[in-house]
Amino acid sequence: MEILKKYGDELKEYLNDTVVVKEPVQLYEPIKYILTLGGKRLRPVLTLMIADFFGAPNGKAVKAALAVELFHNFSLIHDDIMDDAPLRRGKQTVHEKWDINTGILSGDAMLILAYQLFEGYEPELFRELAKLFSKTAMEVCEGQQYDVDFETRDDVTISEYINMIDFKTAVLVGASMKMGAIVAGASESCKENIYAYGRNLGIAFQLQDDYLDAFGDPKSFGKQTGGDIIANKKTFLYLTALKLSNPEQAAELEGLFSVSPKDPSDKIKVVKQIFKDSGAASETQKEIQKYTDKASEVLDSIKISEEHKTKLKEFGDWLMKRTV
Ligand code: IPE
Ligand code: IPE
Ligand code: MG
Ligand code: MG
Ligand code: MG
Repeated sequence: MEILKKYGDELKEYLNDTVVVKEPVQLYEPIKYILTLGGKRLRPVLTLMIADFFGAPNGKAVKAALAVELFHNFSLIHDDIMDDAPLRRGKQTVHEKWDINTGILSGDAMLILAYQLFEGYEPELFRELAKLFSKTAMEVCEGQQYDVDFETRDDVTISEYINMIDFKTAVLVGASMKMGAIVAGASESCKENIYAYGRNLGIAFQLQDDYLDAFGDPKSFGKQTGGDIIANKKTFLYLTALKLSNPEQAAELEGLFSVSPKDPSDKIKVVKQIFKDSGAASETQKEIQKYTDKASEVLDSIKISEEHKTKLKEFGDWLMKRTV
C-alpha cells in the first residue's frame, strides 16, 4: 500500500538515527535486530497518518510513532517467549537467536526507550501522551494474561475472547491513532472517535491474525503455521467451531485442545479441517468484516476531509484482506 510507504519511510529514517547498537551489545543488538526485521509498521504509520490528517506540523509525530513501534516490538519479544514461538517476520525470534534472559532484558529496555521518546514533547503533550501510553500498556498486559489464562481453561466465551483481543491488541491500535490526534491538537471528540475507530479496526486485525495463524502461508505471514493450535489458544475460530459442530466433532476438538503432542502436525491438520467443515473459518471472515464496518461507521463522525476518510477506508479494507 502506497500510504504505508510514505509514512513508513519517515519512521524508518528516524528509527535508524535513534536506535543504535552500543555497549553492552548483548542488550542493544537484539533491539536493532527485531526493529530492522521490519514488519508492517502499521501502528507508527497510523500515528503519522492521523497526525498529518489532523494538520500536525511535519515531523512532530515521529517521536510518538517510534515510541509506539518500540512498545509493539517489546511486546512481541516477550510474547514470543510466552508463546514459545520460533519464528517472527520469517526469522528466528529473539529468544531463539539469543536466549530467554536476553529477550526479557532487551524487551524491558525497549519499553523504557519508548517512554524516553515522549520526553521530547512539551509538558502538556508529554503528560497526555504518557498517560495514554501507560493506560494502554497496562491493558495490553491484562490482555496478554487473559490470553495465557485461556490456554488452560475450557469454558472461555466468545465475549471473553473479544474482550481479551481488545486489550492485547486493539487498544494499542486505537492509542497509536489517538496519539497522532493528540500531537495535532485535535478536539476531544475527534480524539475519542479516532480511538474508537482504531479499536474496532484492531479487533478486526487480531481476528485476521488468528485466522492467518491457522490458514496463512508461513512464507508471507512470517510466523509458524498453527502456533495457536499448538498452544491451545481459544481463538474465535476455535470457539465458533465448538459452537457450530455436532457433539462428536465438538468433543474431538475439545480433546485435541486439552493435549500437547510432541509432534503436533496431525493435530494441526485435523483441527484446521474442523475449522473449515464447521463453518468457523467463514464465520471468522464475517466477524472481521463486521468490525471493519463498525470502524467505518465511527469514521463518519470524525472531522477530516472526505479524501482522508477514503484513504482510511482503503486502509481498513487492505487490512482485512492482508496475508502478511
Ligand atoms: C503482530 O502484529 C502481533 C499482533 C498484535 C497480531 P503485526 O502483525 O502488526 O506484526 P508486525 O509488526 O507487522 O510484524
Ligand atoms: C500478540 O498476540 C499480542 C501482543 C504481542 C501484545 P499474538 O500472540 O497472537 O501475536 P503473534 O501471532 O505472536 O504475532
Ligand atoms: Mg504470539
Ligand atoms: Mg500471544
Ligand atoms: Mg497471532
